Amino acid sequence: MTERFRVTYATLTADNPGLHAAYEDGVRAARNRLGATIAPIIDGETATGGEPAVLRSPGDTALVLAEVRPATDADVARAVAAARAAAPAWAATPWRERLAVLRRAADLISERSPELAAIMTMEVGKNRLEALGDVEESADLIRYYCDQVEAHDGFDRPMATIAPRETTRSVLRPYGVWAVISPFNFPMALAAGPAGAALAAGNTVVLKPSLQGSFSALLLTECLLDAGLPAGVLHLLPGGDEPGRALVAHPGVDGLTFTGSTAAGEAITRAFAGPAICEMGGKNAAIVTATADLDDAALGVARSAFGLSGQKCSACSRVYVEASVHDAFVERLVKHAETFAVGDPLLPGTYVGPVIDAGAVTRYEDVVAHARSAGRVAAGGATMTELGGFYVAPTVVTGLPLDDDIFRRELFLPLVAVAPVASAEEGIALANASPYGLTAGFFSGEQSEIDLFLARVEAGVVYVNRPAGATTGAWPGVQPFGGWKASGSTGKAGGGPYYVQSYLREQSQTVV
Ligand code: ALA
Repeated sequence: MTERFRVTYATLTADNPGLHAAYEDGVRAARNRLGATIAPIIDGETATGGEPAVLRSPGDTALVLAEVRPATDADVARAVAAARAAAPAWAATPWRERLAVLRRAADLISERSPELAAIMTMEVGKNRLEALGDVEESADLIRYYCDQVEAHDGFDRPMATIAPRETTRSVLRPYGVWAVISPFNFPMALAAGPAGAALAAGNTVVLKPSLQGSFSALLLTECLLDAGLPAGVLHLLPGGDEPGRALVAHPGVDGLTFTGSTAAGEAITRAFAGPAICEMGGKNAAIVTATADLDDAALGVARSAFGLSGQKCSACSRVYVEASVHDAFVERLVKHAETFAVGDPLLPGTYVGPVIDAGAVTRYEDVVAHARSAGRVAAGGATMTELGGFYVAPTVVTGLPLDDDIFRRELFLPLVAVAPVASAEEGIALANASPYGLTAGFFSGEQSEIDLFLARVEAGVVYVNRPAGATTGAWPGVQPFGGWKASGSTGKAGGGPYYVQSYLREQSQTVV
C-alpha cells in the first residue's frame, strides 16, 4: 500500500503531484457529503434549529451544498446552559488529558484534510492550496496552543516565599464558557484557533460560525467530538447575525472571541462585559522603494492582493511605490493580474476563485465605477459571472488621489490601488495614516530603509522582501498573527507565544 500523502506547510506546493491526487480523492469524498443538514449541535445531539436556509457554492451557484437550520434563541440559551454545566469538570480535567484529546482532534483534521478542504473549496471558493492550507493551519493552531500549555506546565508556577510556612503560586485558570464567533474567509482556521486555545485553556466553547462557513464549522466540530471531547464541552450554533447577537448579550458567556469587521468588533467590545478578543479589519499597505527587487515586489503584492479574491483581513490593498520605479512596478503587477487564472476553484490551475456572494460582486462593480472616474483601471475591472459563480477579475487601479476612499476603506475584493511616493519615509507615513494596523509589507534593497520600516511601521504583522506574500501568509508558531489599532483588541497574536494566556485569568494562591 502506498503511504498516505500528508499535507504540511512544506508539502503545500502547486507542483506536488501527491497533493493533487489526495485533493481529488477529497473531492470525491466531499460529493458524498453534499445535501447535509447543518443544525445546532448541543450536548452532542443535533437540534431542530429554525427556518432552513439553502447553502450554495459561490463558485457554482447551481450547486446546493447543504441546508442550514440556524440556531434559535432557545438553542443559544440551551447551548450556553450546557456549556456552563460542563465547565467545572472540563476545567478540573488535568491539562495533560485535555491536550491529549485536542492533539487527537488535530490529527483527525490532518487525516481528513483532503475531504475537509474540498468541501471548503465548494463552500467559500478557496483554491485547493488555500483550502488545504486553511485545514492544516487549523490542526497546527490546535497543536501550537497545546504545546504552549505544555511548555508552561499548565500555567501553574511557584512564586517567591517571603513569610515562613507560606507556599505561593501563580495559577492561570479558565474563565468558564467561551463564545467563538468566526468568519467565512478562514472558515476552519479562525474557528479552530480560538476554540482550540479556549479548550486547551480549560474553557468550554460555544461556536457560532458565519452562515457561509457553516459546513466547515460542522466538520471541525465533528473532528473535535470524534476525538473524544466530552459532548458538553463544545456546542455548535450555526446561523447568521442573530445567534451571534444573542451570545454577545447572554450573561452566561464569560469570554468571547470575534473575528470579522471592525464595526461589528467595536460594537461587541462595547456591548460585552467580559474579556473580548476581537480580530478585525485591515487596510494593508506594501511599500516599494527604488532599490527593491521589482519582480519580487510585484509577485508578493499580486499574491497578497488577489489570493482568496482579496477576502483576507491581511490582503494587500494599497501600494506606495517610489516614483522612479512606479511605472515599472505597475507593469509587472498588471501582468500578474492578467495572468493569474480566475475560475472554478476546484480545478488544479485556478489561483483566483469567486468572491463570496452577490453583494460582493455589486460592491466590486461600485468600486470599479468609482475607480474609473477618480483614477485609472490598469488591469481587470470586469465581472465574470458568466462563469457560473461570483467571479470578478483581479484589478489594479492607479492615478487615484492619496486620500481617495479606495485607499482608506477595507474592500475585501481582489482590487489593489498603487500610488507613487517621494521616499520610503513618505510611504511608511502613508501606511501608518490609517485607523487599521494589521499587516504591512516592505520591499527594499537598502538596509537603512528596512530598519526605518521596522522601527516605524504601525502594524501587528510585517514582512520585508517577501515574494511569497507581501502582507499575507502567516503560519502558527512562525508568524504570530494579530492586529494593532482598529485591527485588533488585545495586541496578542494568534499562533503566537502569548495568545493562549488571553483565555485564562491569573489566580495568586497563598497557602499556609
Ligand atoms: N493567516 C492568514 C494570512 O496571513 C490570515 O493571510
